[in-house]
Order: sequence, then structure tokens, then C-alpha cells
Amino acid sequence: MDENIVWHNYAITKTQRSEHKSHKPAILWFTGFSGSGKSTVANALESALNQQGIHTYLLDGDNVRHGLCKDLGFSDEDRIENIRRVGETAKLMVDAGILVLTAFISPFRAERDMVRNLVDDGEFIEVFLDTPLDVCESRDPKGLYKKARAGEIKHFTGIDSDYQIPNSPEITLDTSKNTLDRSVQELIAYLKQQQIIKG
Ligand SMILES: Nc1ncnc2c1ncn2[C@@H]1O[C@H](COP(=O)(O)OP(=O)(O)OP(=O)(O)O)[C@@H](O)[C@H]1O
Ligand SMILES: [Mg+2]
Repeated sequence: MDENIVWHNYAITKTQRSEHKSHKPAILWFTGFSGSGKSTVANALESALNQQGIHTYLLDGDNVRHGLCKDLGFSDEDRIENIRRVGETAKLMVDAGILVLTAFISPFRAERDMVRNLVDDGEFIEVFLDTPLDVCESRDPKGLYKKARAGEIKHFTGIDSDYQIPNSPEITLDTSKNTLDRSVQELIAYLKQQQIIKG
């Protein structure tokens, strides 16, 4: 980094911003195969939290690729840069006092750990969607597995690109066993237990 770029300390801190809210800021980082339920569960959870007056924001893989990350593809290098940008964005939102939800396949352990290390202890909650690949492929909500099997999409996670299972996720959900409502309730119970939202 340029030695002439000097950090300016803000007059107001994250704690002061958070005091205006009834909850603490954090990142709920959903990771798992395409079709594992990241967007579905994150949207249902965001709806439930919003109804409770929690200030949330959902960063979704497909949506950021329309703007912030539209110059990036799916090579390993671009996937890493995609997660780096999303991580930095989520960190800014945490600094603003928001409870952030992210829904990215985020297949590599190193990038997820990089985001974990961007924020304070307890602010990064890794939610592993441990839905078996064959279930994800049979759901195929966007028809992407079909295209990947036909060779029309390269570097597709689970088919010809790796997914590295989280070593110690805070929460593991299998949406082939859990109803959507049950997944949401488990996440809300965790947030209460960690005193991120009120009981
Ligand atoms: N119990 C369940 N919980 C969540 N999703 C479920 C469940 N049962 C079936 N589904 C279906 O599984 C699909 C999950 O797709 P979703 O788009 O949420 O996956 P994703 O992980 O966001 O994938 P991508 O990485 O491609 O964005 C949806 O079509 C959803 O309706
Ligand atoms: Mg999704």
C-alpha cells in the first residue's frame, strides 16, 4: 500500500453506531453447494429478523455479480477476489452496525477464514449448508448442474471445481432434513444465545 495513504480515525465508533440499534452487528456467512439453500434460508431468515425490527442486509452471490463484482468470472483467482470484495463490504456494514447475511458458495476455506479475520471475535458466524450434492443436483433450481454436466459451464463447484468443507462452522444445516422454518428457528436461537439479538 502507498505509504502516503494514512488511516483517518473516525470520530464515531462501531459501538456508538450500534447503540442506536436493538441488536449487535455480525456476519452470518452462508456457504455450501449451489442449490444447498443459501439464498432460500438467508431470505427467510432476513424476513423474520426484519419483522423483529432488526437492521439487516443480504449480500447474495448472483446479485453482487450484477454490480460490485461484474468484472469477475469463476476461475479460482476470480472467486477469491469475489469473496475478498464481499468480505470487505460486509465488514463495512458491520462497522455501520448492521446484521449482514451473505449467500455465496465460497468454496475455499482460506477465503472464508480471511473474512473471519476481518472482523472481531464472534462477529463472523459460518453457516454450513451441508445439503448432499446429489440432493442439490436433483433440485437444480437454476438448471446449472444440467449445464455443468453437459460441459456448458466450466469450474462448477461439486462437478469440476472443489468445495472445501468448513472445519468448524458455528452452525451446520442440512436442508434435505430440515424444513425451511426449522432452519430459520435454529439460526434465530443461535443469535439469541450469542446475545446478538434479544431473547
Ligand atoms: N428445506 C428446505 N430449505 C431450503 N431450501 C429448500 C428446502 N427444500 C427445498 N428447497 C429448495 O432448494 C432450492 C435451494 O436453492 P437456493 O437458490 O436457495 O440455493 P443456493 O444455495 O442459494 O444456490 P446458488 O449457490 O446457486 O445461489 C430452492 O429451490 C428451495 O425451494
Ligand atoms: Mg443463491
